[in-house]
Amino acid sequence: MNREDRASLARRASQILRENDRGAYTVPTKGLYPFQWNWDSCLTALGFAAFDEDRAWREMETLFAHQWPDGMVPHIIFHQDDDGYFPGPDVWQTGRSVPTSGITQPAVAGFAARRIFERSKDKAASAARVRSLVQKIDRWHAFLYSARDPRGEGLVAIIHPWESGRDNAIDWDEPFQRVPSEGIAPYRRRDVDHADPAHRPTKEQYDRYLWLLEHFRRHEWDNEVLHDLSPFRVVDPGFNAILIRSCADLAALAEELGAKKVASANRARAKKGLKALERLWSERHGQYLCLDRTTESLIDSPSVGGLIAVFAAVSEARAGAIGARITEMAERCCYVVPSHDPADPRFDAKRYWRGPAWLIVNYLISDGLAAAGMDAVAETIRASSLQLIEKGGFAEYYDPLTGEPCGGDRFTWTAAMVLEFLRGGEARELARA
Ligand code: GLC
Repeated sequence: MNREDRASLARRASQILRENDRGAYTVPTKGLYPFQWNWDSCLTALGFAAFDEDRAWREMETLFAHQWPDGMVPHIIFHQDDDGYFPGPDVWQTGRSVPTSGITQPAVAGFAARRIFERSKDKAASAARVRSLVQKIDRWHAFLYSARDPRGEGLVAIIHPWESGRDNAIDWDEPFQRVPSEGIAPYRRRDVDHADPAHRPTKEQYDRYLWLLEHFRRHEWDNEVLHDLSPFRVVDPGFNAILIRSCADLAALAEELGAKKVASANRARAKKGLKALERLWSERHGQYLCLDRTTESLIDSPSVGGLIAVFAAVSEARAGAIGARITEMAERCCYVVPSHDPADPRFDAKRYWRGPAWLIVNYLISDGLAAAGMDAVAETIRASSLQLIEKGGFAEYYDPLTGEPCGGDRFTWTAAMVLEFLRGGEARELARA
């Protein structure tokens, strides 16, 4: 790709961010997702930072303004009414003044805050701004390591598949069998009005998503009890690795700002989490796997969750094995990284998190690989990501076999990741060109 192509890509990416900007927050895409989503916002902030740092901080500040008193940061903030989305605030009923959902999402904020701060030109102004965010992110981490790890194992569990950010991954199929699907209120899905039903989760999965939601609602969203009361409790290596990395990054950021207590608490969390992560390693698959906390057994599902683990500072040997898995998959797919191993018969190239490639995941994995010194694989992922964009535009996700764009269009975090892949100073210059 020559400089002109890169400049035009950056311009198109920043245009999408502006288009989906609602002032103080960004919607993932018009129609399908009309509110603020947690990890979308943090990753989108990285994109904004390429051309408007003030707007980047505002994105995260808005998200954290809706943190719950117990420290949880909800996965959706329903800033305004929109009946084009289901389940909306009337279903969640979390009792917040600005309605929110009642579950969380991958804690990528610590990582994003550090990265934006590091690249900031006016450190003094950014420091003033980031200080209160640091305290809030710390409270979120503390929440996760207590409410979602009540026995202090160093690994947090998700209690709903939506918390992983990988809604219908094959990883959840087995533990999901324990979640009833009967007795839920009648409902009408809206996602299938905006996207091809063949690319979305099934009705059976939706019934169970809603059963869990209603179950938590009956317990008044009391996070003191939800973990133990949930029939779905899964330790996702991806979710944990993102949290571990965010703890380590928050520790470094806090250190720089002189917030010693936050720094040492998060350093300790990262260290413990990284050690505990080893419990999820599968020698047979050459990657990490999910753990079903109810049965205490690993789930036999080679998904991208176990590859995102490289985003935490895993050992050289583990990073090497993950890099080898990706290289091997690149031989079977035209584009990496598929969200599930194509060699597994359950792989489904177009169905959301059961096969398709996602740019945000590519970004996390390539960042981890580059940090581990595996530049060649990192570069394969970066090149594949930009090819997908050139071929299919800024889609929500892509068929890794054909590159076909799937799901929502003109997607915010996909655009933000393009700015990241075009990188730093160059993206800034290109986005303004
Ligand atoms: C879907 C994705 C989730 C994302 C949300 C908004 O639910 O699975 O990861 O945060 O859409 O883009």
